[in-house]
Amino acid sequence: MNAVIGPLGPGARAPHATTPGGDEVGTTAARRVVVLVSGVGSNLAALLAAHDDVAFGARVVGVVSDNPAAGALGLARAAGIPTVVVAPRDFADRASWDRGLADAVGVFSPELVVSAGFMRILGAGFLARFPDRVLNTHPALLPAFPGASGVRDALEHGVKITGCTVHVVDAGVDTGPIVAQAAVAVEPDDDEASLHERIKVVERALLVDCVGRIARGGLRIDGRRVVIG
Ligand code: GRF
Repeated sequence: MNAVIGPLGPGARAPHATTPGGDEVGTTAARRVVVLVSGVGSNLAALLAAHDDVAFGARVVGVVSDNPAAGALGLARAAGIPTVVVAPRDFADRASWDRGLADAVGVFSPELVVSAGFMRILGAGFLARFPDRVLNTHPALLPAFPGASGVRDALEHGVKITGCTVHVVDAGVDTGPIVAQAAVAVEPDDDEASLHERIKVVERALLVDCVGRIARGGLRIDGRRVVIG
Protein backbone atom coordinates (compact mmCIF):
# COMPACT_ATOMS: atom_id res chain seq x y z
CA MET A 1 0.00 0.00 0.00
CA ASN A 2 1.46 3.36 -0.97
CA ALA A 3 1.70 6.20 1.50
CA VAL A 4 0.54 8.96 -0.79
CA ILE A 5 0.62 11.55 1.95
CA GLY A 6 2.68 10.61 4.98
CA PRO A 7 1.64 11.36 8.55
CA LEU A 8 2.73 14.64 10.05
CA GLY A 9 6.21 14.47 11.48
CA PRO A 10 6.73 15.25 15.16
CA GLY A 11 8.04 18.65 16.09
CA ALA A 12 7.33 20.43 12.83
CA ARG A 13 5.61 23.73 13.38
CA ALA A 14 3.06 25.60 11.35
CA PRO A 15 4.22 29.03 10.26
CA HIS A 16 1.10 30.56 11.85
CA ALA A 17 1.34 28.59 15.10
CA THR A 18 2.35 31.54 17.20
CA THR A 19 0.51 34.04 19.31
CA PRO A 20 0.54 37.71 18.25
CA GLY A 21 3.36 38.04 20.80
CA GLY A 22 5.40 35.46 18.93
CA ASP A 23 5.00 32.57 21.39
CA GLU A 24 4.74 29.13 19.87
CA VAL A 25 1.35 27.61 20.54
CA GLY A 26 1.56 24.17 19.04
CA THR A 27 3.76 21.46 17.63
CA THR A 28 1.58 20.49 14.73
CA ALA A 29 2.59 21.40 11.20
CA ALA A 30 -0.13 22.66 8.93
CA ARG A 31 -0.52 20.95 5.60
CA ARG A 32 -0.72 23.45 2.78
CA VAL A 33 -4.12 23.22 1.11
CA VAL A 34 -5.28 24.92 -2.09
CA VAL A 35 -9.04 25.02 -2.66
CA LEU A 36 -10.56 25.10 -6.16
CA VAL A 37 -13.94 26.85 -6.34
CA SER A 38 -16.52 27.94 -8.88
CA GLY A 39 -19.53 28.94 -6.79
CA VAL A 40 -20.72 30.40 -3.51
CA GLY A 41 -18.12 28.60 -1.41
CA SER A 42 -19.94 27.08 1.56
CA ASN A 43 -17.40 24.26 1.59
CA LEU A 44 -14.55 26.76 1.49
CA ALA A 45 -16.17 28.71 4.34
CA ALA A 46 -16.24 25.56 6.46
CA LEU A 47 -12.55 24.89 5.78
CA LEU A 48 -11.70 28.50 6.65
CA ALA A 49 -13.66 28.19 9.89
CA ALA A 50 -11.57 25.15 10.83
CA HIS A 51 -8.07 26.06 9.69
CA ASP A 52 -7.09 28.65 12.31
CA ASP A 53 -7.06 25.92 14.94
CA VAL A 54 -3.50 24.58 14.80
CA ALA A 55 -4.81 21.21 15.97
CA PHE A 56 -6.72 20.93 12.67
CA GLY A 57 -3.45 20.24 10.88
CA ALA A 58 -4.23 21.94 7.57
CA ARG A 59 -4.28 25.50 6.36
CA VAL A 60 -5.84 26.98 3.22
CA VAL A 61 -2.97 28.86 1.60
CA GLY A 62 -4.62 29.74 -1.69
CA VAL A 63 -7.98 29.71 -3.48
CA VAL A 64 -8.14 29.26 -7.25
CA SER A 65 -11.25 29.67 -9.41
CA ASP A 66 -12.24 29.32 -13.04
CA ASN A 67 -14.98 31.89 -12.44
CA PRO A 68 -14.18 35.54 -11.66
CA ALA A 69 -17.73 35.98 -10.29
CA ALA A 70 -17.51 33.11 -7.79
CA GLY A 71 -18.77 34.22 -4.39
CA ALA A 72 -16.14 31.97 -2.83
CA LEU A 73 -13.44 34.42 -3.97
CA GLY A 74 -14.92 37.12 -1.73
CA LEU A 75 -14.92 34.73 1.23
CA ALA A 76 -11.26 33.98 0.64
CA ARG A 77 -10.29 37.63 0.29
CA ALA A 78 -12.17 38.51 3.48
CA ALA A 79 -10.14 35.85 5.25
CA GLY A 80 -6.88 37.21 3.85
CA ILE A 81 -6.25 34.18 1.63
CA PRO A 82 -4.62 34.86 -1.77
CA THR A 83 -6.91 34.18 -4.73
CA VAL A 84 -6.21 33.51 -8.40
CA VAL A 85 -8.68 33.32 -11.29
CA VAL A 86 -7.78 31.06 -14.19
CA ALA A 87 -10.62 31.57 -16.66
CA PRO A 88 -10.88 29.23 -19.67
CA ARG A 89 -11.68 32.17 -21.96
CA ASP A 90 -8.15 33.49 -21.41
CA PHE A 91 -6.60 30.34 -22.89
CA ALA A 92 -6.43 29.04 -26.44
CA ASP A 93 -7.61 25.53 -25.60
CA ARG A 94 -8.43 23.11 -22.80
CA ALA A 95 -4.90 21.76 -22.46
CA SER A 96 -3.36 25.20 -22.04
CA TRP A 97 -6.04 26.18 -19.51
CA ASP A 98 -5.29 22.98 -17.59
CA ARG A 99 -1.58 23.87 -17.56
CA GLY A 100 -2.39 27.42 -16.47
CA LEU A 101 -4.52 26.05 -13.65
CA ALA A 102 -1.75 23.69 -12.52
CA ASP A 103 0.77 26.53 -12.61
CA ALA A 104 -1.53 28.77 -10.54
CA VAL A 105 -2.05 26.03 -7.96
CA GLY A 106 1.62 25.04 -7.99
CA VAL A 107 2.68 28.52 -6.90
CA PHE A 108 1.26 27.69 -3.46
CA SER A 109 3.20 24.38 -3.17
CA PRO A 110 0.15 22.52 -1.86
CA GLU A 111 0.30 19.16 -0.14
CA LEU A 112 -3.41 18.75 -0.76
CA VAL A 113 -5.69 20.26 -3.42
CA VAL A 114 -9.41 20.32 -2.64
CA SER A 115 -11.95 20.71 -5.42
CA ALA A 116 -14.90 22.15 -3.48
CA GLY A 117 -17.66 23.05 -5.89
CA PHE A 118 -15.20 23.41 -8.77
CA MET A 119 -17.37 22.79 -11.81
CA ARG A 120 -14.73 21.76 -14.34
CA ILE A 121 -12.96 18.52 -15.05
CA LEU A 122 -9.30 18.46 -14.10
CA GLY A 123 -7.14 17.23 -16.97
CA ALA A 124 -4.48 14.53 -16.97
CA GLY A 125 -1.75 17.19 -16.97
CA PHE A 126 -3.13 18.80 -13.82
CA LEU A 127 -3.49 15.47 -12.01
CA ALA A 128 0.06 14.45 -12.96
CA ARG A 129 1.34 17.59 -11.23
CA PHE A 130 -0.46 16.68 -7.99
CA PRO A 131 -0.62 12.88 -8.05
CA ASP A 132 -3.15 11.29 -5.67
CA ARG A 133 -3.46 14.48 -3.67
CA VAL A 134 -6.50 16.08 -5.23
CA LEU A 135 -9.78 15.58 -3.36
CA ASN A 136 -13.25 16.31 -4.70
CA THR A 137 -16.57 16.56 -2.94
CA HIS A 138 -19.64 15.37 -4.80
CA PRO A 139 -23.28 15.77 -3.71
CA ALA A 140 -24.37 12.14 -4.22
CA LEU A 141 -23.41 8.69 -3.03
CA LEU A 142 -20.94 7.65 -5.72
CA PRO A 143 -20.71 5.60 -7.85
CA ALA A 144 -24.40 6.53 -8.22
CA PHE A 145 -25.19 9.84 -9.90
CA PRO A 146 -21.80 11.21 -10.98
CA GLY A 147 -21.52 14.41 -12.99
CA ALA A 148 -22.73 17.97 -12.68
CA SER A 149 -26.38 17.17 -11.89
CA GLY A 150 -25.97 14.51 -9.19
CA VAL A 151 -28.63 15.96 -6.87
CA ARG A 152 -31.24 16.28 -9.62
CA ASP A 153 -30.45 12.86 -11.07
CA ALA A 154 -30.85 11.18 -7.67
CA LEU A 155 -34.14 12.99 -7.05
CA GLU A 156 -35.49 12.10 -10.49
CA HIS A 157 -34.47 8.48 -10.00
CA GLY A 158 -36.63 8.39 -6.88
CA VAL A 159 -33.98 7.30 -4.41
CA LYS A 160 -34.94 7.57 -0.74
CA ILE A 161 -31.37 7.96 0.52
CA THR A 162 -28.70 10.05 -1.17
CA GLY A 163 -25.81 12.02 0.30
CA CYS A 164 -22.30 13.10 -0.48
CA THR A 165 -18.92 11.61 -1.26
CA VAL A 166 -15.37 12.85 -0.74
CA HIS A 167 -13.05 11.07 -3.15
CA VAL A 168 -9.56 11.20 -4.60
CA VAL A 169 -9.71 12.59 -8.13
CA ASP A 170 -8.63 10.33 -10.97
CA ALA A 171 -8.90 10.71 -14.74
CA GLY A 172 -12.63 9.92 -14.81
CA VAL A 173 -15.65 12.01 -13.83
CA ASP A 174 -16.29 11.37 -10.12
CA THR A 175 -14.77 7.90 -10.40
CA GLY A 176 -11.77 8.10 -8.04
CA PRO A 177 -11.20 6.09 -4.83
CA ILE A 178 -13.71 6.99 -2.13
CA VAL A 179 -12.43 8.60 1.07
CA ALA A 180 -15.71 9.03 2.95
CA GLN A 181 -19.45 9.23 2.44
CA ALA A 182 -22.45 10.46 4.40
CA ALA A 183 -26.12 9.74 3.81
CA VAL A 184 -29.03 12.17 3.61
CA ALA A 185 -32.68 11.09 3.50
CA VAL A 186 -34.82 12.38 0.64
CA GLU A 187 -38.07 13.92 1.92
CA PRO A 188 -41.31 13.48 -0.05
CA ASP A 189 -41.62 17.20 -0.76
CA ASP A 190 -37.99 17.81 -1.67
CA ASP A 191 -37.05 19.69 -4.80
CA GLU A 192 -33.48 19.91 -6.09
CA ALA A 193 -32.73 23.08 -4.13
CA SER A 194 -34.05 21.87 -0.77
CA LEU A 195 -32.32 18.51 -1.09
CA HIS A 196 -29.03 20.09 -2.17
CA GLU A 197 -29.12 22.51 0.79
CA ARG A 198 -29.51 19.60 3.25
CA ILE A 199 -26.76 17.66 1.48
CA LYS A 200 -24.45 20.68 1.65
CA VAL A 201 -24.77 20.89 5.43
CA VAL A 202 -23.58 17.28 5.74
CA GLU A 203 -21.09 17.65 2.90
CA ARG A 204 -19.09 20.51 4.40
CA ALA A 205 -18.79 18.74 7.74
CA LEU A 206 -17.60 15.59 5.96
CA LEU A 207 -15.09 17.53 3.87
CA VAL A 208 -13.63 19.34 6.86
CA ASP A 209 -13.36 16.06 8.75
CA CYS A 210 -11.59 14.36 5.80
CA VAL A 211 -9.13 17.21 5.21
CA GLY A 212 -8.25 17.35 8.90
CA ARG A 213 -7.83 13.61 9.28
CA ILE A 214 -5.72 13.35 6.11
CA ALA A 215 -3.62 16.31 7.21
CA ARG A 216 -2.92 14.77 10.60
CA GLY A 217 -2.76 11.09 9.74
CA GLY A 218 -1.72 10.87 6.10
CA LEU A 219 -3.41 9.04 3.25
CA ARG A 220 -2.77 5.65 1.71
CA ILE A 221 -4.41 4.25 -1.40
CA ASP A 222 -4.53 0.53 -2.13
CA GLY A 223 -6.35 -0.05 -5.40
CA ARG A 224 -9.74 1.49 -4.73
CA ARG A 225 -9.38 1.42 -0.95
CA VAL A 226 -8.39 4.60 0.83
CA VAL A 227 -7.02 4.50 4.36
CA ILE A 228 -6.47 7.61 6.45
CA GLY A 229 -3.89 7.42 9.19
C1 GRF B 1 -21.39 21.30 -3.55
O1 GRF B 1 -22.56 20.57 -3.24
C2 GRF B 1 -20.48 20.49 -4.44
O2 GRF B 1 -20.45 19.14 -4.13
C3 GRF B 1 -21.15 20.71 -5.77
O3 GRF B 1 -21.50 22.07 -5.77
C4 GRF B 1 -21.69 22.49 -4.43
C5 GRF B 1 -20.75 23.63 -4.18
O4 GRF B 1 -21.11 24.32 -3.06
N1 GRF B 1 -20.30 20.31 -6.85
P1 GRF B 1 -20.26 25.55 -2.49
O5 GRF B 1 -19.84 26.45 -3.64
O6 GRF B 1 -19.07 25.00 -1.74
O7 GRF B 1 -21.25 26.25 -1.58
